[in-house]
Amino acid sequence: MKSAITIERLRLMKREGEKIVSLTAYDAGFARVLNQAGIEMLLVGDSLGMVLHGEPTTLRVTVEDMVYHTRQVTRGAGSSFVLADMPFMSYATPAQAMANAARVVGEGGAHMVKLEGAAWLCDTVEQLSVRGIPVCAHLGLTPQWVNKFSGYRVQGRSPEAARVMLADARSLESAGAEMLVLESVPTALAHQITGAVAMPVIGIGAGPDCDGQVLVLHDLLGISEHMPRAARNFMDGTGDIRSAVQAYVRAVKERTFPGPENTFT
Ligand code: KIV
Repeated sequence: MKSAITIERLRLMKREGEKIVSLTAYDAGFARVLNQAGIEMLLVGDSLGMVLHGEPTTLRVTVEDMVYHTRQVTRGAGSSFVLADMPFMSYATPAQAMANAARVVGEGGAHMVKLEGAAWLCDTVEQLSVRGIPVCAHLGLTPQWVNKFSGYRVQGRSPEAARVMLADARSLESAGAEMLVLESVPTALAHQITGAVAMPVIGIGAGPDCDGQVLVLHDLLGISEHMPRAARNFMDGTGDIRSAVQAYVRAVKERTFPGPENTFT
């Protein structure tokens, strides 16, 4: 039996330069297949609102949805680490965050919760962390901000936006964040942030220099309605789901994914 992946192990992987491989999962059956294929971290993403429920955004996902899917994933996850998203407006205040994260961790069984947002979240991160709920911050293209961003756009391109994002990453880590997801940011900025923090940085559309990579399962399987630039269809040339996931694990570990076609400047 494989030993369980923990935060400590993920931090060690960062220090030793071993890439961390993550993929979204929403149910026990896939969680089992992904764990067996060597996915170290399963993300119960609120992307489930789009890929499972057919919504145009993630905004209608509820805490109930996250508890339901996280519980399924943890049943199949085996040794994999389980990170779960907190849905839109479920952490608008520290008190809301506490009550809702307690459900996702307590009832769902997640090992860590992910919050989209910048330094304004520091108080919330600190309060969750000191009460025993590990937090992953999410910067860059945060999909719950789709209306504020006027669409799904690369973030951090101007020198000022890059400076602010780097400062946000540092502040969130100081507040207690133990992981960071960077989505759709220029490769050079992701490189800089990854080097500036001790917590593992997991990228999606953030270049090859992050400590690990995450993809949405349906993108990897080539069944999403729109294929984002950040993703690759690993079913091409493999033909079955297990081989596709194994090919993704190999590609991240051997640093052949992401390629230049998956990144932004
Ligand atoms: O919800 C999700 O799947 C995510 C990833 C895109 C990082 O947050």
